[in-house]
Amino acid sequence: MKKATSTRKGKATAQRSNGKHPPARGNRAEAYVPAFVSDRSLDAGVRCSSPGNSPMLDPLQFVPAEVHRTPPEIMRFDLGKRIRELVKLHGTPLMVISKEALIEEYQRFKRLLPRVDLYYAIKANPHPDILKTFRDLGGFYDVASEGEMRHVLAQGVKPSKIIFANTVKRPEALQFAHKAKVNFATFDNEPELYKIAKYAPGCRVLARLKVSNLGSIVELSLKFGADQEAIVPLLSKARSLGLKPEGVSFHVGSQCTNFENYQRALEVTAEIMREAGERGIEFKTVDIGGGFPIKHFKTDTVNLETFANQMRRELNRLFPESVQIIAEPGRALAGPAGMLITRVVGRSIRNNKNYYYLDDGVYGDFSGIVFDHCKYEFKTLKKTQKFFSIIAGPTCDSFDTLSLSEELPELDVGDVVYVQSIGAYSCASALTFNGIRPAKVIVV
Ligand SMILES: Cc1ncc(COP(=O)(O)O)c(C=O)c1O
Repeated sequence: MKKATSTRKGKATAQRSNGKHPPARGNRAEAYVPAFVSDRSLDAGVRCSSPGNSPMLDPLQFVPAEVHRTPPEIMRFDLGKRIRELVKLHGTPLMVISKEALIEEYQRFKRLLPRVDLYYAIKANPHPDILKTFRDLGGFYDVASEGEMRHVLAQGVKPSKIIFANTVKRPEALQFAHKAKVNFATFDNEPELYKIAKYAPGCRVLARLKVSNLGSIVELSLKFGADQEAIVPLLSKARSLGLKPEGVSFHVGSQCTNFENYQRALEVTAEIMREAGERGIEFKTVDIGGGFPIKHFKTDTVNLETFANQMRRELNRLFPESVQIIAEPGRALAGPAGMLITRVVGRSIRNNKNYYYLDDGVYGDFSGIVFDHCKYEFKTLKKTQKFFSIIAGPTCDSFDTLSLSEELPELDVGDVVYVQSIGAYSCASALTFNGIRPAKVIVV
């Protein structure tokens, strides 16, 4: 530990002395540019990986349309018939993403917030056919890593349509972005700025503001965002390092049903915009992030429609037309379009309750229960009397339990259990554990 500190200090001192970097002011971190990657290894990293090849996804999991060749007419069948036909064709577990629903969600967003450019956060679901669908609608993309960047570029997307919206970026990723001409990124601290200035000189940058995530299911402000007072100094620092400070980004937390979070974040952003203007930094862009909620359950009441009018009014009130407004929705675009079809592969009675084991679980496409803190509405094709039941996944781990109290009809081995609106943060974080592969994901 001690040794690592002295190495960093040594490197920072060397950088100060070669005149390429401004001197540190008290805080050593200010001048710290990572020393753990040599320029030579960075070059090697970029050379051996060319845009166009997208090794990020397993093609047996994210199956492209030209491989699965599912007839699109199936999607027009009523739900029961559609599920049965899809199971006949592909077996289970199967995640089906409706292309029509993707288009509808995208167009609904544009209709409700016409001023906002949509940068789809591909972390929600990186299926190449989803990316192509949004590409054909004129969409933009939010990527979190070099892998995601390569994947988006491989779908024929122009680098100018991508934002590197991870406030913590590997030096290799920055260098790759620079070479690939992805020239737009977020940050929330000064060491990151030095890194960006070194590996992606001239990059356009947005300072990420820490905002309230109150009432959102996934809290992001625990880890990301700088305080309001720090933003203008950070933007000034960016300018002094030769970067192009363009504005602010924020994220109100994912599945945000509390409009106050957006309201306050927009007001604070407008205050920062005025202060920045006084320091000669003109805002070009405000990035309102993601967080837009969807209905996971029939009984959920809030979605984008609920607060779109207010959002539209606030954007127009607070920001002149010259400021471009962008958003990074993930869940709102991919979530509603996805349906997961599983089957019962085992059943027993334990503690006087029906106990069903499905062919997909917490380690697979229900990983959102863990990582996305999500709850799902489990449905079956049977209409018979319902009983309190327990459902679990297929692995040899008792943690792999999906629900301890579901009202379900009596099910047999082979019966279907399906979940709708599960297209986001599900297959994207699914693993093969116990040798059990996650669902095949298809866009039809
Ligand atoms: C930086 C960033 N942008 C966008 C998103 C997408 O958010 P959501 O799916 O809530 O729209 C996330 C989600 O974690 C994120 O971290």
